[in-house]
Amino acid sequence: MTATTTAGPLSSAAHAEHVARLTPVLTAHDVSIEYEVDPPVRAVQGVSLTLHRGEILGLAGESGCGKSTLAYGLNRLLKDPAVLRSGEVTFHDADGTDTDVVALDGDALRAFRWDKVSMVFQGAMNSLNPVLSVRAQLEDVLTTHRPGLSRTERGERCAELLEMVGVDPVRLDSFAHELSGGMRQRVMIAMAMALEPQVMIMDEPTTALDVVVQRDILREIMRLRERFDFAVVFITHDLPLLLEIADRIAVMRAGEIVELDTAEQLYAAAQHEYTQTLLSSFPSLLGDFSYDDGEGAGR
Ligand SMILES: Nc1ncnc2c1ncn2[C@@H]1O[C@H](COP(=O)(O)OP(=O)(O)OP(=O)(O)O)[C@@H](O)[C@H]1O
Ligand SMILES: [Mg+2]
Repeated sequence: MTATTTAGPLSSAAHAEHVARLTPVLTAHDVSIEYEVDPPVRAVQGVSLTLHRGEILGLAGESGCGKSTLAYGLNRLLKDPAVLRSGEVTFHDADGTDTDVVALDGDALRAFRWDKVSMVFQGAMNSLNPVLSVRAQLEDVLTTHRPGLSRTERGERCAELLEMVGVDPVRLDSFAHELSGGMRQRVMIAMAMALEPQVMIMDEPTTALDVVVQRDILREIMRLRERFDFAVVFITHDLPLLLEIADRIAVMRAGEIVELDTAEQLYAAAQHEYTQTLLSSFPSLLGDFSYDDGEGAGR
């Protein structure tokens, strides 16, 4: 296959064919983000990226390369000292309208976040409020964004959400310290799914968990994706995991996306030297070991 010679990430011809069949849901164009500290940190530099409806797009790269910063930029969650220096982010709603995400503010921004694009934060399992029950925290999202729901409807929806992520609804009355790490992470995923967003950005959603729990949760995410057809930006430094679950993978290095391709192409014929280095740094890829147990993506 041939590499594209224009500026931007390396991609294969097979990748171009693959994306030609898909419909965009979130587009980033030339996004640059800087932390205004001394000296300034140019954390994201000229990133262009398209997320398609229903796909899992993996974002891989070593610690500090800018993955979380980019995710925050996509969802308008950047906080001081982070500044969006340039770029456009457009959300293509299923209802046919396009939203300029950078221009959103006030109520429009609040309505966009969680409703259209939600996020599972890095280290999320530690960000449940310790003094509120799971029910209170899930209800809070619904009360804010779905004020029309009756109390009963809200309660039913909370139970349904926990069931969706494989947690017994009796846990609605639990507090964070009464839940295992895996359960807490599942609750965070339930919260991100509460409003049926079209895009979920998951920043290292399973990294802190042991491999068995991680596998269970990944399977759950894949299953939910099948059922609700949301698109996922899945961020991790674990490239082998992405090869298994992602449709496409963007490889990020020092604030830039250096390669973007289908998982198959990336595995079979990575073009960028850095991707090749990343792949070869995981010895498991050279042997028969796989996260797949026959029920996964089958990659
Ligand atoms: N609040 C901040 N102030 C200054 N620099 C920051 C801040 N937050 C992040 N950075 C810097 O921005 C760069 C990108 O950080 P970011 O957290 O986006 O990386 P990451 O790829 O998500 O890393 P990890 O895999 O460790 O989560 C790094 O150099 C980091 O040190
Ligand atoms: Mg991060």
